Amino acid sequence: MPDDRECPKDQAPVLTILRNIDEINNLNDVDSILDKILLDSREFANADAGSIFLVEDNHLTFSYVQNDTLFDEQTSQTALYQNFTLPISEQSIVGYVAKTKKSLSIPDAYDISPTLPYAFNKDFDNKSGYRTTSLLTIPLLAQESRLVGVMQLINARDDSGKTVPFSNDDTTYVPLFCNNAAVAIERGIMNRELILRMMRMAELRDPMETGAHVQRVGAFCAEMYGAWAARRGHKPKEIKRQRDNIRLAAMLHDIGKVGIPDAILKKPAKLTPEEYAVMQQHTLLGARLFNNERSNLDAMSKEIILGHHERWDGAGYPGRTADPATPDNKPIMGEEIPLSARICAVADVFDALASARSYKEAYPEEKCLRILEEKAGSHFDPEIVEIFFEIFDVIKAIQRRFQDT
Ligand code: C2E
Ligand code: SIN
Ligand code: SIN
Ligand code: FE
Ligand code: FE
Repeated sequence: MPDDRECPKDQAPVLTILRNIDEINNLNDVDSILDKILLDSREFANADAGSIFLVEDNHLTFSYVQNDTLFDEQTSQTALYQNFTLPISEQSIVGYVAKTKKSLSIPDAYDISPTLPYAFNKDFDNKSGYRTTSLLTIPLLAQESRLVGVMQLINARDDSGKTVPFSNDDTTYVPLFCNNAAVAIERGIMNRELILRMMRMAELRDPMETGAHVQRVGAFCAEMYGAWAARRGHKPKEIKRQRDNIRLAAMLHDIGKVGIPDAILKKPAKLTPEEYAVMQQHTLLGARLFNNERSNLDAMSKEIILGHHERWDGAGYPGRTADPATPDNKPIMGEEIPLSARICAVADVFDALASARSYKEAYPEEKCLRILEEKAGSHFDPEIVEIFFEIFDVIKAIQRRFQDT
């Protein structure tokens, strides 16, 4: 594809769009896809903020938000895990756009004619002190005009930073981009649904390992990885792609438990050493599902499934051989354990401690945190535990978002 600069000026936006769509098609997870779509669209329109709502059970669920004025990195990650919904009805702007499936550009949210069916909801502005002015609200339509969600861009700015209405270019090109993006969102949702379906199969076997547990562990890992990579100055694009993979891969960490007999899996008491040896096989059983390693996601899934019970001090399992029970099995330790598995170990144990299991009650938060702290440097990579505490606000937001029902 030729470089933008060699093209007639009016083709440049189309090329940018094509390039962005191509990048989106390389993402697997719905959160990363939403993040990229919103970022690209905001960049195109020079919008200060934006959010995305997705259709779920005939409602619009608030699913993604960015705001350059209000949010630093951690508050923005916390805001992502808010949970609220809107009806698909004409009263709200987002609902109206969902209902009519047509884009709507509003120059000033505080100056909408009372004769129109929709009104601007000032709750967010009132709570945050933000002043919403211009809005561009766009339906996300996949094939056959199927509504996937709604994106709202907030406060377009001119070159001097002044808030202005969205331009003709914005209202022409951003919806074009969004229609392609909607297909990617659907694919991301399908990927995650597929994994959750696999997990529901596992849950039929072990009702204590719930979908909520799996979502929490995935999100904990994604956020810890993001903070870890940011510390090292990794590029945001690279961080996002890896964060995407680690979230999905971590959701599969215990998939091997489907191969463990009920009498052991559901035993409402402490396991005997023999039973525990069988239980430990869940790492090897699960990893076998990913022997093909067709993609980065497969490779990371295998790393996590195999390595999430390894310990920083080498006392974990399964270690280096295929059978953890053999006497000559050599341990693996420290940074020999893949980063993704070291992260998942912290996430998984914290969530197991904080949840009820067939063999234990949920522990109070204080006790969970004390155990993590005590085991930093023995069970866990101490830097990962440090990061866990650093982003604890985000961890709490994830717990609120994905509660056991
Ligand atoms: P899980 O329930 O998801 O627990 C994951 C990990 O969290 C455990 O790995 C352990 O490192 C940590 N953990 C869980 N509960 C506690 C606790 O009360 N105190 C402390 N300090 N750590 C805890 P582990 O031990 O390798 O166990 C792997 C899996 O084996 C567990 O997954 C669970 O499914 C099963 N399991 C472990 N112990 C028992 C048991 O006594 N009874 C039964 N029925 N299952 C057990
Ligand atoms: C972009 O190209 O930056 C995405 C938004 C758009 O083109 O409409
Ligand atoms: C990374 O190193 O960036 C994450 C992949 C891994 O080591 O598991
Ligand atoms: Fe496990
Ligand atoms: Fe687990």
